Amino acid sequence: MRLVIRLLGAIWVSSLVIIAGFAFLQVQSERSRMLTDLERRAWLMGEGLKEAIEPAILRGQPARIERILKKFGSPRRGIAVYDQFAGLLVATPDLAPRLPSSLPIISQALTTGQAQKGVETLGGQKTYLYAVPLQGEERPAGALVIFLDASQLEFHLSALWQQNAVRLMILASVVSLLTLLVVRWSITHPLRRMAEWAQQMRAGKTAPPPVSGQLFGSLASEFTELARSLDDARAAAEREALLRLEGEALWTAERLKQFVRSQLNDTPLFAVSNREPLIHQWRGRKIETVEPASGLVTALEPIMHACGGLWIAHGSGDADRETVDAQDKVGVPPEQPAYTLKRVWLTKEEEDGYYNGFANEGLWPLCHIAHTRPVFRASDWAAYRRVNEKFAEALLEEMEGTERPYVLIQDYHFALLPRLVKDRRPDARIVLFWHIPWPNPEAFGICPWQQEILLGMLGADLIGFHIQFHCNNFLETVDRTIEARVDRERFGVVRGRHTTYVKPFPISVAPAPDPADVGVSRDELLKDLGPSVEFLGVGVDRIDYTKGILERLRAIERFFERYPDYRQRMVFVELAAPSRSHIKRYQDLDEEVDRAVEKINWSLRTNQWKPIAYLRGHHSHKEIWPYYRHADFCMVTSLHDGMNLVAKEYVSAAEEERGVLILSRFTGAARELVDALQVNPYHIDEMAEAIRLAIEMPPAERAIRMRRMKQIVRERNIYRWAGLLLEELTRLSVDRAGVAEV
Ligand code: G6P
Repeated sequence: MRLVIRLLGAIWVSSLVIIAGFAFLQVQSERSRMLTDLERRAWLMGEGLKEAIEPAILRGQPARIERILKKFGSPRRGIAVYDQFAGLLVATPDLAPRLPSSLPIISQALTTGQAQKGVETLGGQKTYLYAVPLQGEERPAGALVIFLDASQLEFHLSALWQQNAVRLMILASVVSLLTLLVVRWSITHPLRRMAEWAQQMRAGKTAPPPVSGQLFGSLASEFTELARSLDDARAAAEREALLRLEGEALWTAERLKQFVRSQLNDTPLFAVSNREPLIHQWRGRKIETVEPASGLVTALEPIMHACGGLWIAHGSGDADRETVDAQDKVGVPPEQPAYTLKRVWLTKEEEDGYYNGFANEGLWPLCHIAHTRPVFRASDWAAYRRVNEKFAEALLEEMEGTERPYVLIQDYHFALLPRLVKDRRPDARIVLFWHIPWPNPEAFGICPWQQEILLGMLGADLIGFHIQFHCNNFLETVDRTIEARVDRERFGVVRGRHTTYVKPFPISVAPAPDPADVGVSRDELLKDLGPSVEFLGVGVDRIDYTKGILERLRAIERFFERYPDYRQRMVFVELAAPSRSHIKRYQDLDEEVDRAVEKINWSLRTNQWKPIAYLRGHHSHKEIWPYYRHADFCMVTSLHDGMNLVAKEYVSAAEEERGVLILSRFTGAARELVDALQVNPYHIDEMAEAIRLAIEMPPAERAIRMRRMKQIVRERNIYRWAGLLLEELTRLSVDRAGVAEV
């Protein structure tokens, strides 16, 4: 209300000032126009009469003067003649009674010898006076004065003021009315709706913000973010309260945040990985953000989101450079940054040698026993070393000024990084997490640079693998390859005064989104797959030869051959993200998968059904969740896998009464998810049988198995993984010389 009064006050005052200003100028100009007109008329008359009166006054003929005056005078135009002493000689009859005894204008005309003019009130009437001296022999012999009625002048000018006052009233009223309407529709009304919406949010009912558009659009989106943060905080508080009630100590994002705050004393976290959490890519003339299909990103992202810090990664998107600041940094998520991503740029040659070559044609097949032969090229190894050094430089520069920083190095792309950093910053507390399996010493022994790799890794204070089996393999490899003491009791490697601890930390996922947010219903999914479809299977993979995709497709084919009753009733949806596509082996596999899908669909399809819906491409979590949620079964059939987070994502998102997980026994996840239907992916008949079992499993059994698995994934979540890893790291008292002791 106060705002409205202020607005209206401002409108009226400003209208008044503007209109009064213009009116004043108009009156001035009108007044001067009318005076000029009066003057012109008086002058014409004065000059004309002067010639007739001058001889008469010189000759002393008042009667003649009186005749002349009578002839030219009128009620609205008086004429008077004065003698040389300003005494009245003759005046027209209407004027005479109104004339005062003296008029200064006459004396002025006589003394100056110049015509004088002015406006006076005579007998209560405004009168314009024009006095002309009458020429005598030496000095003026008298003065002729013309009196014109100027009452119109006053009248006209006051009419002008009145008109402008009316104009002011109309203008101010119309503007006030329009302002009131605009305020009502554009401010009061949206604000009232926003207040109602905020009330709803406060009451815990989530609803989209009611206003958009330019005026309140950005305010609304800020408000939405604020509400969302409040909502998250409330949900976290509720979860914590629930957990306290349950007497459990479940790890949550909030708990991890508190843990980092209290245990790490707010020392920032530095994470390094090859893959970045957010890729910027050109699509036409627009830049889009892509979440990469990566187990590492799936795991690390929620931790950085919860704890903040700096994540250093390779900037691999073609629009990555356009989206960073001068230090090559960008906040993530860009709309409300929780942590900072620093991008490191690689040349094509570096990327080729380090990433495609040594990491993915050498170490990847070396560590995964999947019967693809590793390739070791000296040039790749040189590039790998160079890129590790490049990342070390970037990291050391960022860590300057931070004492005893915590560094989380990720994966097989950076085996040399721990040593490079430790040599320069012995006070840094470094963990290297190896996201892929570690093979037995014989298998690892074929790597020409095995010693350098091990020595590089042992620069870390802690090395994490997914499972104890990989830790054992690693310790065994170290024992056989380099000069070091392996402490099997404490699971450490001692070299000189430095100990590196080697422990299992089974990685996991963040809790699944609320089922209400999944967005797409099961019926909608099935409808798109054909009218007769009752059952839905799903697979989600990068197109990688370790994932057993071809074996899975064969198993699906075998299932339909063995159980033709299920034809037209079941569809398997494979969401497959192209990966490492510059490597020949991956290109070949991509084509093989295409051909296999084509062949199976060709041999089994009907008019309205095909057994496999192959969705090749990058899919966001949002697109994948509906399949996880509504599938009757999910197949994870890796030939070898460190952990496999698809299995855990599926378990956390699936419907409890419906979902069944078919899981390769060669994944790390198989150690924890014992209620999955575990299969040997090389055994096609066994997998076909597992599909039948999954579809025909009684609901009660499904629910029991799924409930148990859900509990495991819920408890051993990604926050626990990070919490345990960091807890272990903080327990290591690393002195300035870099000696780690528990
Ligand atoms: C595996 C590795 C991860 C990697 C992922 C995707 O899961 O352990 O470190 O993120 O594959 O591979 P990419 O080469 O696309 O990063």
